[in-house]
Amino acid sequence: MSFVRRSARMNDSQRGAWDRHAADFVVDVPPAELSTSIADGASVDWVREFGRRADLIVEIGSGAGDSLVPMAAARPEADVVAFEVFEPAVASTLGRIGREGLTNVRIVVADGAQGLGRLFDDGTISEVWTFFADPWHKSRHHKRRLVSGAFGDVVARKLVPGGVWRLATDWEDYALWMREELDDHALLENVHGGWAPRLADRPVTKYESRGIAAGRRIYDLTYRRRA
Ligand SMILES: C[S@@+](CC[C@H](N)C(=O)[O-])C[C@H]1O[C@@H](n2cnc3c(N)ncnc32)[C@H](O)[C@@H]1O
Repeated sequence: MSFVRRSARMNDSQRGAWDRHAADFVVDVPPAELSTSIADGASVDWVREFGRRADLIVEIGSGAGDSLVPMAAARPEADVVAFEVFEPAVASTLGRIGREGLTNVRIVVADGAQGLGRLFDDGTISEVWTFFADPWHKSRHHKRRLVSGAFGDVVARKLVPGGVWRLATDWEDYALWMREELDDHALLENVHGGWAPRLADRPVTKYESRGIAAGRRIYDLTYRRRA
């Protein structure tokens, strides 16, 4: 488990969005012992879920959907599955999905590291996005970090050959750790040989602006699954 859910209440508008849209966009998966973990053997037929066969993108830690919603809207030809453990944020995302009229997004309220490993066949995902996903940026928390060489193994296994993993963080020590863990990964290639240019259509989210306001630099990385 890379994450344990904080329990939190939704405000009225989030509750309304949840009631209106959860049935259409939240994918229920059988939980294991913790509410955010996914039962071993759980599976989702994504072609059936989306009603079509399309490129699959997975975002882990989608928050309120600040990147997810505009980026999915810009990619109507792809289907996007987002993992987010914080229900009020999922509810806000649902409201935005509804307002935008998107049909190519689904959300799983569960740990995305586990979900990626368990709910997708190997070699079926075109892109994985982890943008500011991790609260465990400090070195003393490095064992709890989402991004690691071991998680890189899972991402690499799930990506199609040539598929890409896009990461962004505003914590320098975490960014350097990502490079240490992933640059020499046997199945992943650092596409830019170093930091990636900012992805043109990745919006500046609330978390990113906070980092910038605090004087932190934003680090983007892109890794490609070797053929
Ligand atoms: C700092 S916020 C950033 C949200 C969004 N990516 C953005 O840039 O606006 C991190 C989010 O990732 C979620 N998160 C962290 N680890 C996760 C995991 N393993 N699975 C699912 N969600 C996770 C947290 O609940 C939180 O909402």
